[in-house]
Amino acid sequence: MTDSNDEIATAALGTGGPEVGVQGLGCMGMSFAYGPTTDEGEARATLERALELGVTLYDTADIYADGENEKFIAPFVRAHRDQVVLATKFAIAADPEHPEGRTVRNDRPYIRQAVEDSLSRLGVDEIDLYYMHRRDVNVPIEETVGAMAELVAEGKVKHLGLSEVTGGELRAAQAVHPIAALQSEWSLFSRDIEAQVVPAARELGVALVPYSPLGRGFLTGAFVNADNELSSDDWRRTQPRFTGDNAAANAALLEPVRRIAQQRGITLGQVALAWVQQQAQVHGLTVVPIPGTRRRSRLEENTAATRITLTADELAALEPIADKVAGARYPDMSLTSAGRE
Ligand SMILES: NC(=O)c1ccc[n+]([C@@H]2O[C@H](COP(=O)([O-])OP(=O)(O)OC[C@H]3O[C@@H](n4cnc5c(N)ncnc54)[C@H](OP(=O)(O)O)[C@@H]3O)[C@@H](O)[C@H]2O)c1
Repeated sequence: MTDSNDEIATAALGTGGPEVGVQGLGCMGMSFAYGPTTDEGEARATLERALELGVTLYDTADIYADGENEKFIAPFVRAHRDQVVLATKFAIAADPEHPEGRTVRNDRPYIRQAVEDSLSRLGVDEIDLYYMHRRDVNVPIEETVGAMAELVAEGKVKHLGLSEVTGGELRAAQAVHPIAALQSEWSLFSRDIEAQVVPAARELGVALVPYSPLGRGFLTGAFVNADNELSSDDWRRTQPRFTGDNAAANAALLEPVRRIAQQRGITLGQVALAWVQQQAQVHGLTVVPIPGTRRRSRLEENTAATRITLTADELAALEPIADKVAGARYPDMSLTSAGRE
């Protein structure tokens, strides 16, 4: 049995990176993407409870609700500045030619403005971990990481991270400046990074920060078909794997997850989170997943999963799932590492 009141263990975030709780907290859903946050007080209480449980890595980005998510977590971050390891991201920008659209910017002038904007919204002097959120292939990665390294030298940023880069891009970046963390989607349903990205991270001693480790909630069984069950503004309704015929086919793939959860007296989400931790061990990586939740009860369930170990038979039963998933993890995969490998 796992006790939800126990503090979680810690791990170093990459070579020379900060020591953090082995599970972080994704804050995006508190302002953006997964339907309206009806209980802001509960979301704020979740931030506080996370710290009590040893969660120290808090993840946001400038693009989440156009800066509102950074503003939402700012009072919490400032109140606990010495304990919180604050991670935010730049690169997804407004598109001047299409007001509703987005473009990707990796150029030095953009980065310098973006960091000032994030510092101001967060109300802090320094960001602990600053990620490039998406890659613009028109800018050499060495130039982008060079501009990010200037921010470290100037004391605006402590550590550097990259999101959705390929193994080759990670190697080129690390030659310019140490990269503490690589953030990419990794879960029972999304394993494309195991081909090239994971081996590069292991070789370079870069920690992996898996995002959407609960498959955006799908792996918990919380919903089956985004078309019918989620609000009209829920971003998951744009995802091929959660909609149409794919959704029912993919829900059927959860059968072994459900069986293991029932046999062990744990939840589906805990099986999914334990799998990520153990899969990292298989690959010899440090891993700090950042499941996102706005509710204390789910946070407690998720942190308790760090103390669950799946058996070899259970891992074998989960192994075939990812290859059978119908539908891509993004409508346009060109901005993911897999889209450029
Ligand atoms: N780098 C990138 O490109 C990128 C992309 C996406 C996300 N991210 C980051 O990664 C974080 C996590 O990813 P994510 O939020 O997309 O997906 P996730 O962590 O896989 O799933 C979050 C969803 O699952 C629900 N949930 C959480 N715990 C649950 C539980 N125990 N039982 C049932 N449902 C549960 C949440 O709802 P409630 O909130 O209502 O509990 C939310 O709808 C984000 O917050 C964000 O910071 C980064």
